[in-house]
Amino acid sequence: MGSAIFARMLRATETGALPGLRRAAWKGTYTAISSLWRRPRWRFMNYGYLPPGVPFALDAADEAERAFIGLYHQAFAGLPLDGAAVLEVGSGHGGGAAWLARRPGVARVTGVDLSGATVSRARALNPGVPCLDFRTGDAEALPFPDASFDVVVNIESSHCYGRMDRFVAEAARVLRPGGWLTWADMRGRAMLPATARAFDHPDLVPEAEAVLNAGVLAALDAMEAEKAREIARFAPLRGILGEFAGMRGSKLRGALESGEVLYLARRFRRR
Ligand SMILES: C[S@@+](CC[C@H](N)C(=O)[O-])C[C@H]1O[C@@H](n2cnc3c(N)ncnc32)[C@H](O)[C@@H]1O
Repeated sequence: MGSAIFARMLRATETGALPGLRRAAWKGTYTAISSLWRRPRWRFMNYGYLPPGVPFALDAADEAERAFIGLYHQAFAGLPLDGAAVLEVGSGHGGGAAWLARRPGVARVTGVDLSGATVSRARALNPGVPCLDFRTGDAEALPFPDASFDVVVNIESSHCYGRMDRFVAEAARVLRPGGWLTWADMRGRAMLPATARAFDHPDLVPEAEAVLNAGVLAALDAMEAEKAREIARFAPLRGILGEFAGMRGSKLRGALESGEVLYLARRFRRR
């Protein structure tokens, strides 16, 4: 039953149907998660990414969250961060924004999220990080002036948006000329043309694109046992939580394995 509801929600995301309802459903989902599931160190809500080859450098204190930080690490690798003002759109519980705020040279990081409960949780879970703040706001109507950030980062959030093209236009608006939009998220193959159209903005120049499926599946494997222990605490919701978390045997996990769903990363430079 849980899996069927989740599959329907995903299908609506894929077809781009009912934008207002979809936005509200995802907002309700994350508000419920942040309000009810108060695991003390749960600062990330993404599927994770463990790239092949030599593991990237990480502080010892961040090691337990390596899989989740991997998506941020790949999003920022090689980008100029010295003195950068960074905006994360869809910052969730704030672990990624807090990790970024601790990168050498970064001037400030602002996380914005649609769910007020999620923003409250991000503040509580990431205390005492200088130059970091969180606020409530909508990706499709960002509460910031034009040209106020050097980098906009967006990790595993845009599948929730009613209108992806509105988010892209807002990202272009708040970026300074020469700034970067760095994005990663999942898309079913049927959604690829619509996603390409949403990114087709006159002020954004495509610079790089990658398919992350293999590294995302490696991260899901690495975190499977820990997530299974957590999900076991909520036995009646095991089906829907297993789908949501991309556990082995879930529909979404199968689609990532078969390539029916792609986990994509893209970067754009603001003209
Ligand atoms: C899967 S979580 C990812 C959070 C974080 N980026 C991470 O990697 O841990 C998706 C987040 O996007 C947020 N979100 C959904 N729709 C949004 C919107 N229209 N504007 C801003 N945030 C949104 C959700 O509330 C949720 O916190």
